Parts: sequence; structure tokens; C-alpha cells
Amino acid sequence: MSPSPDAEITLTVNGTSHRLAVPATAPLLTVLRNDLELNGPKFGCGLGQCGACTVLIDDMAARACTIPVGSLAGRSIVTLEGLAKDGRLDPVQEAFVTEQAAQCGYCLNGMIMALKALTLRETAPDERQIREALRYNLCRCGTHLEILAAARRACGLAPAERLQKMHNGEETTPRQHPPTKLQNNAGA
Ligand code: FES
Ligand code: FES
Repeated sequence: MSPSPDAEITLTVNGTSHRLAVPATAPLLTVLRNDLELNGPKFGCGLGQCGACTVLIDDMAARACTIPVGSLAGRSIVTLEGLAKDGRLDPVQEAFVTEQAAQCGYCLNGMIMALKALTLRETAPDERQIREALRYNLCRCGTHLEILAAARRACGLAPAERLQKMHNGEETTPRQHPPTKLQNNAGA
């Protein structure tokens, strides 16, 4: 099958308009990474299943690996690179730094963007909404406890009691019991 011919497409990414000649069927993720050199969104599964490529489209979390770029005219796309403002990290990013919520870090773009979408649509997300927002974002390193702590911090909730104890040195059990919902969707 011959490749789709390039089309002239205007994409608005992180507030900047870009005129690009790319196949309309090209996945948004490919265009972001290869043409715009925005490497915040990661390639994980390429099948819409892991969440590593998550971006915001009109403030909603979306999987860039499955969305043809030709369908995005007039839409506002935000990548991880577009979150920091005036040299300051977004509060969701700050929460991940504070909680040191990473091992390899590959999943974090998707986690942060999914949480950002949640905080944009809910002023005071609760625990259930946080877990639902992260339900289909996978972390192969098993960093779920720290990610959940960062998510709670980003949403203005108190740290979970067990995590607080670990931070205080009262409990030293390593990360081995991720929250059930996240564990069930970790794809391990
Ligand atoms: S790379 Fe897009 S969901 Fe996995
Ligand atoms: S920190 Fe490595 S995949 Fe999540």
C-alpha cells in the first residue's frame, strides 16, 4: 500500500500554531516527536493502551499514538512541555518532584497529563476520581504508591496514612502493595 500523501495541516500545540506538511493519517504522537521535536509524550505501546503518550486536546486527556493528525484542525493540543509557565513547573509536576514519584520515569508524562486533565475539569478531585483518572495509565516499575501520593498532593488531598509513615521513617516496607485498582491495570 502506498503511503498517504502529505497534506498541509495547521496544528496548535502549546499555544503556538504550526503549519506542517504531513500525512493526515500520521499519528499525532509521531508528528509531535518527529516534526515538532516535543519528546515529552512517550511512545510506549502505540496501541492506546499504556498512556505514555498522553496529551491534552481541548483540556481532555487523549492518547496521541492513536489520533490521526488530520482530525485535529482547530483543536488545542498541550504536551508536557506546555505545562510550565514563566519558568515555574505546573503544580502537578511540582507534586511529582516533591514526592519523588519515579523510578525510570517513562510513564510519568502520561500520569502527569492525565492528572492535569483531571484538575482542569474538577476543582477538588477525591480519591476515587484520582484513581479513575489514572486507571488506564500503566507503570511497569511499580511506582504506584509514590505516583498516588503525588496525585493526592496535586489534588490538595492529605498523603495516605501509610505513605506518611514511610516518609516519617516509621515504616520502611518497600513498594510492594500498590493500590488494588492501579495494580489491576498495571499490565504486569
Ligand atoms: S503509546 Fe499511546 S497509549 Fe501507549
Ligand atoms: S516509573 Fe518506570 S514505568 Fe513508571
